[in-house]
Amino acid sequence: MLNRRHFLKTGLATGSAVLGGGTFGLLASQASATPDLVLKPRIIDQNILGHNPTKNVFSYNASGPAPILRAKQGELFHVRLENKLPEPTTIHWHGLRLSNAMDGVPFVTQPYIYENETFDYIFTPPDAGTYWYHPHCNTLEQMSYGLTGVLIVDEKEAPDFDADVTLNLRDWRLGSDGQFINLYKARKSARAGTFGTVKTTNWEENPVYDVPSGGIIRLRAVVSDVTRIFKLKTEGADATVIALDGYPVPKHFPLNHQAVGPGQRIDIALRMPDEEGKEVKLINASSSKAWTVATLRSQGASLKRDIRDLRPLPRNPVPVPDLKNAEHIPFEFTATAESAPKNGFCGTIGFSFWAINRKAWLGVSPDPMAPLAELKLGKSYVFSFRNRTPHTHPIHLHGLSFTLLNSNKRQIDPFVTDTALVLPDERMDVAFVADNPGDWLLHCHIIEHQKTGMSSFIRIT
Ligand code: C2O
Ligand code: CU
Repeated sequence: MLNRRHFLKTGLATGSAVLGGGTFGLLASQASATPDLVLKPRIIDQNILGHNPTKNVFSYNASGPAPILRAKQGELFHVRLENKLPEPTTIHWHGLRLSNAMDGVPFVTQPYIYENETFDYIFTPPDAGTYWYHPHCNTLEQMSYGLTGVLIVDEKEAPDFDADVTLNLRDWRLGSDGQFINLYKARKSARAGTFGTVKTTNWEENPVYDVPSGGIIRLRAVVSDVTRIFKLKTEGADATVIALDGYPVPKHFPLNHQAVGPGQRIDIALRMPDEEGKEVKLINASSSKAWTVATLRSQGASLKRDIRDLRPLPRNPVPVPDLKNAEHIPFEFTATAESAPKNGFCGTIGFSFWAINRKAWLGVSPDPMAPLAELKLGKSYVFSFRNRTPHTHPIHLHGLSFTLLNSNKRQIDPFVTDTALVLPDERMDVAFVADNPGDWLLHCHIIEHQKTGMSSFIRIT
């Protein structure tokens, strides 16, 4: 098979003892034989609506949402995937700079992991922050049915917070009987995407968490939904944005309707009221009907913390691009209108609505398995993202982190990220050092857009 052959060419079959190679490689001898944990994705029944249990929920856990995984910055992390689903899967570690062989993209970095097969993901995260994990196979179904989890990489030295609360934000497409309805509507896939009917945080509607009164709280929100772009604000206390997409922001700023799209993360800090029982609400105001995403409730005697004690998080060691000598590469995101065959692999949904540089990547054989751009290892690049559609697209690059440079539409700060929200008709330049060799996907994280063409990859050698 064409795609498997391609995989063998660039994947592990190099005979080398280094897993992945380059600065992100790992000597096989460093890899521990026993994993830190084993993830077993499987199908469960789960109460999501509160009355009728939902059937056919996919989870990385025996019940409830995926576990929050915790790795340590600069330390080896070893997860074994043991597939208990009746279909193939893989795990992609969204936002992590790791070796290509661990990136979890079927036919690009690894073969399918079929039912009852295992695969060991072993890597050393160079950066601390809030990341997440999900399949990269039959992605629309597997993620919509439940397979999205949070991975926290803890800083080498723990920052001074009184509580650390993680929120996995995602919708479900359920009918009033609590059962799944059609996951997408094609005419919506051709627009902003199909939204869920039930909005949850950690698989619950508006969960309430008790945290210390008068304490400084770190709140990590991960948008693992396949479609929805959130606009977050708080009520009951002011909040400060301390990191976006895992990376500490260069300068703290107040949370005020911050857009967080599929694939993106936000870390905020806030000080709880002194009085016990007082609530602080995290609110999504992205549509005319705002709703509470989660509630924090003050508990116990006040810790009397001073929010001015809040210190910036330590910077992550992302290399600084050499803008003077950087090569510029344009990427155009457009709508296409071709029909696509339904016999693709890896969960193509049989339509072609979107393209990058006029090419729609549909996961159909024979596939245009050629990279959209070939980059030289160690060189600096500026990617010019041009959105020629009337919709916002969260554009995600695997394996590398880039710095936002400028936009033709708005003032942007030099945030470091792996997923950029590119607005309608926006042109946004981003820069990075191509320091991680391999084939890296570049795609829209509105999964219907990805699955109907807005996906491709770049190659670094
Ligand atoms: Cu979070 Cu290619 O994905
Ligand atoms: Cu998109």
